[in-house]
Amino acid sequence: MSRYSRITGTGSYLPPRRLTNADLATELASQGVETSDDWIVDRTGIRARHFADPGVCCSDLGVEAARNALQAAGRQASEIDLIIVATSTPDMVFPSAACILQNKLGVAGCPAFDVQAVCSGFVYALTVADAMIKTGAATKALVIGAEVFSRILDFTDRTTCVLFGDGAGAVVLEASDTPGIVATDLHADGKHVGILCVPGHVSGGQVLGNPLLQMDGQAVFKLAVGVLEDAARAVLAKAGRTEADIDWLIPHQANIRIMQSTARKLKLPMDKVIVTVDQHGNTSAASIPLALDSAVRSGRIQKGDTLMLEGVGGGFTWGAVLVDL
Ligand code: UT7
Repeated sequence: MSRYSRITGTGSYLPPRRLTNADLATELASQGVETSDDWIVDRTGIRARHFADPGVCCSDLGVEAARNALQAAGRQASEIDLIIVATSTPDMVFPSAACILQNKLGVAGCPAFDVQAVCSGFVYALTVADAMIKTGAATKALVIGAEVFSRILDFTDRTTCVLFGDGAGAVVLEASDTPGIVATDLHADGKHVGILCVPGHVSGGQVLGNPLLQMDGQAVFKLAVGVLEDAARAVLAKAGRTEADIDWLIPHQANIRIMQSTARKLKLPMDKVIVTVDQHGNTSAASIPLALDSAVRSGRIQKGDTLMLEGVGGGFTWGAVLVDL
């Protein structure tokens, strides 16, 4: 009998501090940086984002999302035998946010590690967990996307600091006789490292290079709209399905215009696209599981629905996962 993996519970967590565009514009104006609600909504679709308070780390957000997912799946943390955290903003250089999170869950023993693929991190982590479950290396996995991007934003750069937010989302993924995860498709092209990066690094007790996010927004935009269509078509081909089989498209939540373009290319109406970028901003690896959980909890996404999850981001990385819920 074939072995597959299936999502059995979803969870998410947003830090309580919520800033509307107007709130952020006021804060930035006090530092001489000019922006407006109109510009941000018009160019991105973002209306608000959440920022973690000082001292709150990636693993703090991730563990809350994980607890919510465990509860939804009816599982105890002690039953989990694999923990993967997708993040680009871990608590420390090492150990991994996954190890810190495992300890916060009060468990020990199972493998725990981070996956670093920036905004594609969750589809990468889900693909790794699916593969480990299929081979028998794991039976019940926690797959978490958690980010505190507010820590790496340059608040003097209005072209980037208005775009991102903090948060976490998680799923419990369990071995199953039926899929579950129907097909996955991952890619990277390292020649685009420079268009979206945090080049700073720790060396000899100092941070060398700029430790804040820098992005060529237009270059990222152009690449994103192309690869999201390609990844969706590739994963559908692997699954032997068509666009008509997709009940919900859950793309990485970076910019409503990228999502609209992807939906148009896949001939999907926008009412089949889960959109949370307006309320969360771009939460990088957390954006897809946050969007998934909010749509599950609001009742829009139902058990039995077919979901297309799509990530794209720094690296350049991109990928898609087709899911029967
Ligand atoms: O998570 C990884 C994926 N990341 C993404 O997908 C991001 C992809 N890129 C984008 O979403 C868009 O390129 C941005 C939202 C970042 C920028 O939108 P755009 O339509 O490409 O704007 P632009 O960079 O061409 O800037 C247009 C104007 C410029 O002014 P001038 O030169 O025309 O006078 C900017 O200086 O808008 C100005 N501008 C702003 N104005 C007010 C840039 N940022 C702001 C701002 N507030 N925050």
